[in-house]
Amino acid sequence: MGYRHVDTAEHYGNERAVGEGLTRAAVPREEVFLATKIHPVTGGLTYEEVLEEADASMNRLGVDYLDLLYVHWPVGDYEATETLRAFDDLVEDGLVRNVGVSNFDIDLLDEARQALEAPLFAHQVELHPFLPQSRLRADAQTHDYTVVAYSPLARGEALDHPTIRDIAERHDTSPARVCLSWVTSHDNVVAIPKATSRQHLEDNLAASELELDEDDIASIDAIEQRKRFVERDGAPWQ
Ligand SMILES: NC(=O)c1ccc[n+]([C@@H]2O[C@H](COP(=O)([O-])OP(=O)(O)OC[C@H]3O[C@@H](n4cnc5c(N)ncnc54)[C@H](OP(=O)(O)O)[C@@H]3O)[C@@H](O)[C@H]2O)c1
Repeated sequence: MGYRHVDTAEHYGNERAVGEGLTRAAVPREEVFLATKIHPVTGGLTYEEVLEEADASMNRLGVDYLDLLYVHWPVGDYEATETLRAFDDLVEDGLVRNVGVSNFDIDLLDEARQALEAPLFAHQVELHPFLPQSRLRADAQTHDYTVVAYSPLARGEALDHPTIRDIAERHDTSPARVCLSWVTSHDNVVAIPKATSRQHLEDNLAASELELDEDDIASIDAIEQRKRFVERDGAPWQ
């Protein structure tokens, strides 16, 4: 279809299946941007664990390098200096091309950037019309890294919002395209929607062709409803 960014995680338990898909696809490995994550509980974030888990992920995926490796959550044994020293060593050894973090806040992002020798490449965080994350987006612009928006459709709930439905009708397009186009209209932001049908996959990819006008973007920015879908003990926003 044209998708080239694959977002997986050790914690999702699907790295082997993703690896099989990559092997069977006609697309060469170097054209795929493959991201995975090390989880504090199912993986472990001490220096040694990061090295072991990265190796185990690459084995399950059947690849000899990762385009992006994330710290999945800054909890458990996460300790910026120790954990990220292992990420730096993986970059130094050519096994990981870029370092990312997920579910951080501004202070943890600051600390991570100071601890890392490699540039911080991406912050993956929940972002959709009900959780617009304007402070985190501003931080990404200031420090020149990418925000990877997860749950960008608010798990489908944003598609029923009247503002999004109205804009979709006016542009004769789908609410999902409107929602994703709004997410990626912001500087430094990319989106990783999940979809399980061919129709949804095609719909979401076509969002890149939709250009919203300034009024559309402003009216979605003005939605006041707030909802967060992903929570865990020790999350930095709690
Ligand atoms: N870093 C983290 O801690 C973290 C946490 C959560 C998620 N994530 C990542 O973010 C990805 C997406 O997040 P998510 O699954 O939570 O939420 P999402 O992408 O906002 O929503 C997925 C839901 O939207 C539906 N959908 C997708 N495309 C649609 C379309 N064009 N029209 C109508 N409905 C559509 C899907 O239905 P169908 O299945 O029927 O297509 C599914 O029910 C995950 O796969 C994962 O890679 C990361």
